[in-house]
Amino acid sequence: MPTEIGTKLVSARFGNQDAQTLAGYEKTGGYGTLRKALAMRPDDIINEVKASNLRGRGGAGFSTGTKWGFVPKDAKQVHLVCNADESEPGTCKDRELIYWDPHLLIEGMIISAHALKAVHNYIYIRGEMMREYAVLQKAVDEAYARGYLGKNILGTGLEVQLTVHRGAGAYICGEETALLNSLEGQRGQPRLKPPFPAVKGLFGNPTIVNNVETLMNVPFIIDKGGAWFNGLGMGRSGGTRMVCVSGHVNKPGVFELPMGITFNQIINDVCGGVWKGNKVKAVIPGGVSMPPLDADELDVPCEFDALQTDERIKPVMVRPGQQFDLGGGRALRTMAGSGGIVVMDHTSDIPKYVWRIMKFFAHESCGQCTPCREGTGWLEKVSRRVGDGNGKPDDLELLASIAHGIAGNTICALGDAAAWPMLGFLTKFRPDFEAAIAKATKKGKAA
Ligand SMILES: Cc1cc2nc3c(=O)[nH]c(=O)nc-3n(C[C@H](O)[C@H](O)[C@H](O)COP(=O)(O)O)c2cc1C
Ligand code: SF4
Repeated sequence: MPTEIGTKLVSARFGNQDAQTLAGYEKTGGYGTLRKALAMRPDDIINEVKASNLRGRGGAGFSTGTKWGFVPKDAKQVHLVCNADESEPGTCKDRELIYWDPHLLIEGMIISAHALKAVHNYIYIRGEMMREYAVLQKAVDEAYARGYLGKNILGTGLEVQLTVHRGAGAYICGEETALLNSLEGQRGQPRLKPPFPAVKGLFGNPTIVNNVETLMNVPFIIDKGGAWFNGLGMGRSGGTRMVCVSGHVNKPGVFELPMGITFNQIINDVCGGVWKGNKVKAVIPGGVSMPPLDADELDVPCEFDALQTDERIKPVMVRPGQQFDLGGGRALRTMAGSGGIVVMDHTSDIPKYVWRIMKFFAHESCGQCTPCREGTGWLEKVSRRVGDGNGKPDDLELLASIAHGIAGNTICALGDAAAWPMLGFLTKFRPDFEAAIAKATKKGKAA
């Protein structure tokens, strides 16, 4: 927020309380782009989004236009669902976006629904976000009253309905198929894919699930053009990037930044440097599911592809000579994820931190598949004893082997989300774990 670096799109109205209301939003040009979009053919909107290189901001960075293109042309009923569950630790951008600019999300959803020919659409918002829910529901009611939503929007004959649905605070309900189950009133557990939601989703109909930030970028693409939006970004990633920086920096916060900005620039130029004059030890680049960067890897941009392929990032090596592979043939580096950046200074206790992350995943596993249900529990137990100073000499190999047993072997990516950071930390911060175990061994001998 309080940074002048780069163009502001989705955060431009942050701090402007008046813009939360329909009248205030319209005063700043709001819903102008909707009129333009309603005069466009749905396919032309999809082509513009494809040209923009907008990539999903929910974590995986998948091309939005490509995903929209998967909806079967002869579909009788299509749904658009906005994923506002935002539960990834370290991530808190969507709640700010919803709070400060609810009508921008609604406008983005109406334009996207028109492109997808989707009539019944939903926003699935995390249950704990009471403040944001109140603002959002009020904005949806205003949009209905003004004729932006409903049966015959702005006299065009088009119908776009929008329902806000509150979740009940389960991390797994952010996974798109668990979210759809929850929305249907079933238990929030992920579905096997394929079929992907774009082909068979909510109530068996083709469904597009997109993150809050993703959908809020759509009005800018339609207003100024896909090529313009693409030009703001870097490589194959168009637009700007919302990041949430927490941890050991002087000025943590939620910021909209250029895609090409590096982690060092974020820490020093945006967040006022590491607190107390300390040095950086590790950085989580995009929510705790993502493997860490070490202090020598921070000159890389926070763009999606750069984090996976930048040659400066060392491949993850679990044991000397052994390269961890995700099964897709690509060596694991890390990913931009959900934009949740956590900075840890040189005093940080890495084994304790890793235990805390593993505790989270063990608690949030839905229990449906054995490698995740059992494996996350074991990762938690073993990492706890290492973090507590009671580790055994073989524990690092044990942790690596449990993580290997989970990665790529589960129904949804929550299993990977636990395994990847475990392996990443073991590899890049092995001396910290070894020191904790050596201390425990010495203590055991002395006793
Ligand atoms: C365990 C888990 C939790 C997730 N939580 C969220 C979430 O809170 N918000 C979100 O947008 N995406 C979340 N995702 C990603 C969604 O499954 C989905 O990919 C995303 O909503 C698609 O939107 P996008 O293409 O705009 O990124 C999660 C995925 C997993 C595996
Ligand atoms: S990976 Fe974990 S969270 Fe995902 S379906 Fe399997 S048990 Fe559930």
